[in-house]
Amino acid sequence: MCCNVCHVRYERSQTQSDSHLPRLLNKPLTLQLAHLSDPHLTSPDRVRWRELANKRLLGYLSWKYRRKHKHRADVLAALVRDIASRKPDHITVTGDLTQIGTAMECDEAYSWLETLGSPDQVSVIPGNHDVYAEDDWMRTIGVWSPYMFGIEPGTEQLFPAVHEHGSVALIGLSTAVPTAPFMATGSLGERQLSRLDGLLADLAERNLFRVILIHHGPVPGTNSFRRRLTDAGRFLAVLEQRGCELVLHGHGHHNLRDRIETASADIPVFGVSSASMATNNPETTATWNSYTIEQRDRSWRLTVQSRSYNPDRHEFTDAGTPLQVDFPES
Ligand SMILES: [Fe+2]
Ligand SMILES: [Fe+2]
Repeated sequence: MCCNVCHVRYERSQTQSDSHLPRLLNKPLTLQLAHLSDPHLTSPDRVRWRELANKRLLGYLSWKYRRKHKHRADVLAALVRDIASRKPDHITVTGDLTQIGTAMECDEAYSWLETLGSPDQVSVIPGNHDVYAEDDWMRTIGVWSPYMFGIEPGTEQLFPAVHEHGSVALIGLSTAVPTAPFMATGSLGERQLSRLDGLLADLAERNLFRVILIHHGPVPGTNSFRRRLTDAGRFLAVLEQRGCELVLHGHGHHNLRDRIETASADIPVFGVSSASMATNNPETTATWNSYTIEQRDRSWRLTVQSRSYNPDRHEFTDAGTPLQVDFPES
């Protein structure tokens, strides 16, 4: 249903394999969520020159002479295979699927989303590269609507949007706005923030585990001035007031485990590196995170395991030991 916020209630998909069935029946309040970000998987090679008559020209040149060589399709394919082998209940992608957000790239990214799973199994939010310049929403990221929490085409103002999976609520935000050349900032805007405030209160009332998905990392110091979330202060003020249980983001192309301190509780924050970059640095090589969320009466346990790309073995392996967070009874 669509009301103040776009609200999709998740039921077990008929397309899920039967291998999920015993786990869901025995532990119906457990969710395994896979998180990847910044695949930058598309190629603007066939872009029309008239589409470059704005900031996109700089982005195109940056891609052609620099970023093209950093983001590898084979690494992303290995990451997707690794996620599939773990059979998560849901996959979330926190933005920057494209290079300069052209219509052709958005179509290409949609085809890739289809290979990940159905809209019931996969959710996506946009990043700054996906809204690189002013363009027709319906022809660009609007084609991702089924994967953007079921937002209706033409209703791009509907963030925040919610995807409920049992007792877990995935809350998608959009920080993707066109910016000036050489800037990669993001903004939520007052309208989205005020709706988020009410939404978090409603979901807390229902005792749901609230996971916020946002492209730009909100923790102070995470991003440079040029790449920051411009209204991070207002966002943190909403969290101070309403709280949430988990924040996931991308954008930094950097693995990050942090927390937001509020008066009532610390909120775990996880950022993941680009899903298509191969480096020898564990902080920047392609990584995805697995979050297992278990409900125990009125308390929760979160277990996080990172899986990172090993360039020598061309495969993903556990990065460190699992991190466990226990939430007090509400
Ligand atoms: Fe990115
Ligand atoms: Fe980004």
